Amino acid sequence: MLKQTDAMDKVCAFAPATIANVNVGFDVLGLSLATLGDKVEVSPNGLGYNRISEIISETPLPTDPEKNSCTYVIKKMQEALHTDVTVDVRIKKGFASGSGLGSSSASSAAAAFAFNALMGTPFTREELLPFAAEGERIACGAAHFDNVSPALLGGIVLLHQQRPIRLPQPKELFAVSFFPNIEVKTASSRSIIAQHASLNVIAKQVSAMGAFVAALYNEDYALLKEACKDYLVEPSRKILIPFFDEMREATLACGGLAFGISGSGPSVFALASTRSTAEKIQHSLEHCYEGTGIKTISLVEDLKEGKGATLCEY
Ligand code: HSE
Repeated sequence: MLKQTDAMDKVCAFAPATIANVNVGFDVLGLSLATLGDKVEVSPNGLGYNRISEIISETPLPTDPEKNSCTYVIKKMQEALHTDVTVDVRIKKGFASGSGLGSSSASSAAAAFAFNALMGTPFTREELLPFAAEGERIACGAAHFDNVSPALLGGIVLLHQQRPIRLPQPKELFAVSFFPNIEVKTASSRSIIAQHASLNVIAKQVSAMGAFVAALYNEDYALLKEACKDYLVEPSRKILIPFFDEMREATLACGGLAFGISGSGPSVFALASTRSTAEKIQHSLEHCYEGTGIKTISLVEDLKEGKGATLCEY
């Protein structure tokens, strides 16, 4: 039976927000942001059960250890390790749940990373992915890997048969994340996706994914711009996001490379090859919501800073 090392009385990990799908890869592609994210601290409690001792979050989250994604992930790890080490868990959310920026996965990834460190790192980062994905199952009903993989590994990650493939990052690539504060639950956003697509649409999407990957390997920004399109899911989902088409037009008018729904929404994302273009896009997106009464949060991040989960102070 595995016991935690005496030296570690508490461990805290940070895991970043993520943009899933990135237009071309529904459920199989994601990229990590750098500074926005969640922190999860674990400390052995000797109680024989896990307990959530603190949640700092603007939106309410489950405190029942069976329903909270962090404690659920930890429980799955404890079962795999056959350990009797149980923990108190403190969670500090860096952004709203239901934003489309991988909120549940940032917490799940941070919980997995922190508990793994507490136990003396029995699992590699890659081996933590299925545990973190279990947190997604609890949070939204589907154990999809496209947020938890970049949250744990950092960078741009493609999933092939649930195994991560790290894709190269172009030297200059900036993401704009724009969150209109309206509620879109992942489960309901998944439920409205058309379940069947024509062969023509599937062929276009497969081609777009291949071209996107080639663009990353060749640092070909023109190809990236042509390729980074969602033919499969966006047509069903964009009705959930006010001013979606206006925001796309604004992004392209500013010289953006791509625009689309971040994960299951309501956040949208844009990609740009310079920080100044990204900031111009950010202002244009904010402009689209001016006078609507809908609060918005936006940020620009340099994608080469996206390193995945790390140990940190709480
Ligand atoms: N791939 C998932 C979806 C991501 O689009 O529903 C959810 O953040």
